[in-house]
Amino acid sequence: MFPWKSVLVIEQSSSRARYLQLVDQMIKEISAGRLQPSQKIPGTRRMAALLHLNRKTVIQAYEELMAQGWLEIRSSSGTYISEKLPVTQYIPLEGKSPSNRSARPASPHSFDFIDDYTPQPQSSLVVDGGSPDHRLAPVDWIFKECRSLAKSRFNNHLLAYSDVRGDKVLRKILANYLSESRGMNINEDNVLITRGSQMGIFLGLKAMIRPNDPVVVGDSGYDAADWAVRYHRGQLERVTVDHLGLNTDELAAVCKRLPVKLVYITPHHHFPTTVTLSNDRRIQLLRLAMKYNFTILEDDYDYDFHYSSSPLLPLASLDHYGHVVYVGSFSKIFAPNVRVGYMIGSHEMVEECSKVRRIIDRQGDHLMERVMAEAILSGELTRHLKKSLICYRQRRDHLSQLLNEMMGDHVEFKVPEGGMAIWTRFRKIHLASIKPELNARGLYLDIDRDLAEKFNGVRMGFASMNESEQKQAIEILAGVVQSSTL
Ligand SMILES: Cc1ncc(COP(=O)(O)O)c(C=O)c1O
Repeated sequence: MFPWKSVLVIEQSSSRARYLQLVDQMIKEISAGRLQPSQKIPGTRRMAALLHLNRKTVIQAYEELMAQGWLEIRSSSGTYISEKLPVTQYIPLEGKSPSNRSARPASPHSFDFIDDYTPQPQSSLVVDGGSPDHRLAPVDWIFKECRSLAKSRFNNHLLAYSDVRGDKVLRKILANYLSESRGMNINEDNVLITRGSQMGIFLGLKAMIRPNDPVVVGDSGYDAADWAVRYHRGQLERVTVDHLGLNTDELAAVCKRLPVKLVYITPHHHFPTTVTLSNDRRIQLLRLAMKYNFTILEDDYDYDFHYSSSPLLPLASLDHYGHVVYVGSFSKIFAPNVRVGYMIGSHEMVEECSKVRRIIDRQGDHLMERVMAEAILSGELTRHLKKSLICYRQRRDHLSQLLNEMMGDHVEFKVPEGGMAIWTRFRKIHLASIKPELNARGLYLDIDRDLAEKFNGVRMGFASMNESEQKQAIEILAGVVQSSTL
C-alpha cells in the first residue's frame, strides 16, 4: 500500500493552488519511480478523504495529470498511472551527470570481518549450532499473558515509552531469582534488561574497552563475540581451551606481557567445544582479574541446560569486587525470538550501558519483559525448563547414539554434560567440501567456516530436532560422508 497520506502533503498556507500542489507531488513520485506505470491509484472520493481535500480539487488535479499524460482511466476499472509515461527532460544537478546518478556515498567503514548472515532454509532439514526447540515454547501461555497485560487498565502502560533499563518489575524479580538460584548478591540497580545476550556482550565491550586494548578470548571461541571486539577495535588475544576450559596459566602469561582489559568467556558450556570451566580455573581466573585489574565478561547463555549434575555457580556469584559483568538470556529458554536478555554489573556500569543502549534502541519490549517476570513468579519458567531438560537430555543421547552407530568411523565427539550441541570433529573427509552435497540432499548443516578449516569440526545442535528428524539428518550425513570417502 502506497503511503499517500504521508507522501502527498498539501500546504494550506502555500500560494500555489492546491490542485497544482497535488499535480506537482504526483509527478515527483512518478518520476522518482515510487509510483509505477500501470499502478492503480485511489479514486477521487477516497483520495479527497485521505488528503482532507475537497473532491473537486482532486478531480481538477486528476484531469490536469490526464491532460499531461501521467494518468489514464481504464473503463469501469479505475484510474491508473499511465502505462506509457510522458518523456521528461532530465535536468542535471550541479556537479552530477546522468552517468554517475546511481553512485551512492561510500561507507567509510568496512565490516568484512563479520560473516554474512545466511538464513537457514525453511524447506530443509536443519542441524543448527545449538538452538532450543521453539516448538516446545509455551506459546499459548505467553500470548495469553501478553493479551491480559496489554488489556489491563493497570498494566497497559507497558505499551508506552518507558525506562531504557527495562521493565522495573522484571529487573526486581530477576535480581531476586538470580540471587536465590545462582547465588548472586544483587538488586534491581545491577540489572539492565537487553534484547538478548548478544546485546549484553556489545554493551559490556562498549563500556569497558578502548581501541587497541588487549581482549582475551578462547581459541576458538564464539565468533559473534570476536566480531564485537573487532568492531570496538580491541586487540584480540587468543588463549587455548582444553578439557577444563580456558587455560588460565596461558592467560597469566598473556597478562604479564600485555595490559589485558577484558576476558570474554562462556563458562557453561564453552563455545564451540561445550566444556565447562572447572572450579579451580574459575578461582584462578578471578584472582588474575583482581591482580591485573581486568573485567571478566561472563556469557552464561547456556547455564540452564546442564544434564548430569547441577550447573556450577557463575563467577559473578563469587566475591569479585566489580570485576565480573554477567550476561544471560531468555532466548535459549523459550525461543530465539524471545528477545529478552540481561546484563548484570555494578550500578555505574548499568547506568553507562543504559546510555549507550538508549541511542541504538530506545527501549526493549516491556510487554514481553513483564511476561518473563510472570514466568518466573508463576513457576512457568521452572516448569518449562524441567520439561525441556528431560526432552533435550533424551535428544542428546539419541543423537550421540546415532553418530556412534552410523558414523563411528568418521567422527569423534564427547557426549556433552550440557548445552544444546555436540562438538563433532570429522575424520577422513573435509567438512567444507561436503556442504554442497548435503544441501542438494536437503540437509542444512550449520558449518562455521573457521571451525571447519581449523578443526574440521562442527557444532551439531540436538535440542531443536526430534528423534525422527535426527535420524533423517544422520542418514543423509552418513550417506554423503560414505560416498565422499569411497
Ligand atoms: C555463546 C553465545 N552467546 C550469545 C548468544 C546470543 O544469544 P541471544 O539470542 O540471547 O542474543 C549465542 C547464540 O547462539 C551464543 O551461542
